[in-house]
This record gives sequence, C-alpha cells and structure tokens, in this order.
Amino acid sequence: MQIENKVVVITGASRGIGKSLAREFSRNGAITVITARSIGKLKEVESELKHNSAIVHPIAFDVTSKKSIESMINEVIRKYGRIDVLVNNAALAFYEEIADSKWDDIDKLFKTNFFGPLQCIQTALPYMKKRRKGLIVNISAPISRYSLHHQGVYSASKAALERITEALDIEEGKYGIETLIAIIDRTKTDIKKYALGPKKYARLPYNLQEADPDAVAKKIVRAVIRGDRVCFMSKRSWVFGILSVVCPQFINKMFKKSHSKFISSLK
Ligand SMILES: NC(=O)c1ccc[n+]([C@@H]2O[C@H](COP(=O)([O-])OP(=O)(O)OC[C@H]3O[C@@H](n4cnc5c(N)ncnc54)[C@H](OP(=O)(O)O)[C@@H]3O)[C@@H](O)[C@H]2O)c1
Repeated sequence: MQIENKVVVITGASRGIGKSLAREFSRNGAITVITARSIGKLKEVESELKHNSAIVHPIAFDVTSKKSIESMINEVIRKYGRIDVLVNNAALAFYEEIADSKWDDIDKLFKTNFFGPLQCIQTALPYMKKRRKGLIVNISAPISRYSLHHQGVYSASKAALERITEALDIEEGKYGIETLIAIIDRTKTDIKKYALGPKKYARLPYNLQEADPDAVAKKIVRAVIRGDRVCFMSKRSWVFGILSVVCPQFINKMFKKSHSKFISSLK
C-alpha cells in the first residue's frame, strides 16, 4: 500500500506506540487523524508533527463509548470523505490473578481493548466497503497466544481481537477490505503506569529488553506498505507463537516456574 495522502485514523495516539505511529504515518505522507481522550496531549502531538508540514487532525474520543466512536468517525468522514486505514491501538494493561480480578476492571478492560475496537471497526467498515478499499490494523501482543500469569484477562482481550480480525479478513476480503494483526513485543511506554490491577503485579518477569516505540512504529508501517496480514516485531515472539501451538506444555512449564519465582519475590 502507498501511504501518501491516505487518511489514517489512529486510536490512542496521545502517547506511546500510538504517538510513534502518528509520527511514522505522517513522515510517509499520510493525512493522520490522531485520537484519544486527552485533547491536550493530542494537541502537543499535532504541533510536533505540524512542524514537518504534515496534515494532522486531533479528535478527542473515548473508545469505551459508542456515541463517541460514532461522532469521531463521522467527523473524519465529514472532513475527508473517507477512511483508508484504521489503527486500533488504544488499550489498557491489567495485572492481576484471575481469581482476584475485579469485575469492574474486567469490564473496563474488555470495553477498552475489545468491544471498543470492534465498534470502531463496525462503524468505519461501511465507508470502507462503499469504496471497496480499506485496511484495519489491530494491535496485539505475543501473550494473546499463551497467557503469562497475572495477565490472563489482558491476554484474553488481545486473543479476542485477533480472532475477530481473522474472521473479518475472510468475510470482507471480497469487498477490498484488508487486515493486519501487529504483534507488539514489550515496548518502552507508560502502559504500566495506567494499568488496572494492584501495582505490585505491574512488574514483568523475565528481564527482556524493551523495544523503542519509534522502531516498533516503523516496523508496523513497513508491514502496512508490504501488505502483510500478521507481523511480529521480533524472531523471539514469532518463535513463541509457534511454540504455543506445537509445544504448549513447554510454555506452560516455563510460565509456572516464572510464576513461583514471581510470587516468592513479593514476600
Ligand atoms: N508497551 C508494551 O510493552 C506493549 C506490549 C504489547 C502490546 N502493546 C499494545 O500496544 C498498544 C499501545 O500501547 P502503549 O504501550 O503505547 O500504551 P500507552 O502508552 O498506555 O498508550 C495508550 C493509549 O491509549 C489511549 N487510551 C486509553 N484508554 C482510552 C480510551 N478509553 N479511549 C481512547 N483512548 C484511550 C491513551 O490515551 P488517553 O489516556 O489520553 O485516552 C494512550 O494514547 C496497546 O494496544 C497495547 O496493548 C503494548
């Protein structure tokens, strides 16, 4: 796909990977619509990107509200007449054991990470189908394939998002709709700061290096240009994806060990 002059809507673009994606799409000549709840932060991203004479359009929206999603998509259609790419990036993390997960947190997590993105897709899709063209990019994580301890609900929300992406691709391909699942590795952002659940669990086992969000955004945009259906950010997460299918007992043993170590480190 050629990015230049494409209307790209990115959710959760006020910070982290979404902000880096806005930078990268703009650098490639896209008309970038940046959305999130905090209009103040979006305006900061807008002024940074406008320095490079990019077309950037900030819209405040809450992915957990159907009304807010509809009004955001309507504003884009009114202004530009189309959506070429929708990037469902906005999400929350949630660190808690399944047994202790509070229903309010589960509800908020699924509204943000799954029901909201699904509603964004359903709202944008008719405009894409009318033009027989459109790409939906859904941002996921390696643990959607086999959950780590304390992240079961988060992993479930990402697995759900991936499964609807696969079905969507099969169902809507004939109308020119394409999809991309981007599997993001651990990345240096403030995601833990805004996470749901007790802070003592917002600490990840395994001392893996965190990726740079700008480098992650570059890989995602490259995958968009190439027309990939799934893209992994590293060989490590690709291997993890394969092992989780062909050798789940191995992952299970490894994560059980990590869980015991993690729990004793809290004592
Ligand atoms: N960082 C990692 O290590 C990592 C690893 C794997 C996958 N991922 C995935 O990568 C994506 C980006 O994560 P990140 O690390 O960049 O997170 P982040 O820094 O916490 O950014 C999250 C973005 O989502 C927005 N957001 C949150 N709730 C929202 C709501 N209700 N409505 C609209 N926007 C909302 C936030 O803006 P406002 O608060 O202003 O609304 C912010 O712009 C997520 O899908 C995440 O699951 C991240």
